[in-house]
Amino acid sequence: MLKRILLIAAILLPGAAALAQEVPLLHADTNINDLQSLQRGARDFMNYCSGCHSLRYIRYERMATDLHIPLPLLKKNLMYTSSKPLDHIVSAMPGDDAVTWFGNQPPDLTLMARYMGVDYIYSFLKGFYADHTRLWGVNNLYKPNVAMPFVLASLQGVQKPVYKSETDPSGHASMTLVGVEPGTQGSMTPEEYDRFVRDLANFLDYTAEPIKAKRESMGVFVTLFLLVFFVFAYLLKKEYWKDVH
Ligand code: HEC
Repeated sequence: MLKRILLIAAILLPGAAALAQEVPLLHADTNINDLQSLQRGARDFMNYCSGCHSLRYIRYERMATDLHIPLPLLKKNLMYTSSKPLDHIVSAMPGDDAVTWFGNQPPDLTLMARYMGVDYIYSFLKGFYADHTRLWGVNNLYKPNVAMPFVLASLQGVQKPVYKSETDPSGHASMTLVGVEPGTQGSMTPEEYDRFVRDLANFLDYTAEPIKAKRESMGVFVTLFLLVFFVFAYLLKKEYWKDVH
């Protein structure tokens, strides 16, 4: 048994080490308290992502309340399916079709920010580059052989891969993908695109933990309360013990 475990570890560990050496993630620099960014993220998610991806652990109404989106506006601008406000946000795409079309199921994104981190989502959306060997003509720096078409290509343009050639000790030359550089022009400037994907990452951070902003402000409140409480507790202690010597 022990041998088997060691064998499995030996197979898995180099794999894990190889993953760690991959291109480092970019910093998303999101702010969960930035309501406008979250609202833009929600709008952009519904426009560009909800056709394939669901957010099945959150309801429209909860999102609207948390992000201060009035119900009529929600119904008019953000609900594309025949859903009702109390429904969960499911995608319009039936699962079997998705597998047939993309070869892989678009995952539910409600908890993706917790699972992979906000920086990953931000990097992933900035990591698409032209690769004509792939079905959709694109690949991704952070998720090699990605099955997702680059649905934001008209906004960002399509980046080009940057390779570094390396020669190993036995003289074999190989090319390693080390990054991406601007390729074709999109409708957005690089700054606008950064903000666009930052809003999306921020919104997905919200869906992964809708209570996060509240929890953080509550944390500050509780800390302040404890500090004030400490002063009173200390004075009380002094009062009780002043005659005991
Ligand atoms: C046309 C369908 C489609 C649309 C639209 C789409 N995606 Fe995807 N997405 C996919 C598929 C398919 C996968 C699975 C990729 C894979 O497993 O290689 C995926 C995977 C992902 C992943 C997970 C990557 C990983 O590491 O597993 C993220 C994050 C993601 N999409 C974000 C988005 C965001 C944000 C949008 C909107 C801007 C979006 N997607 C729009 C089809 C789509």
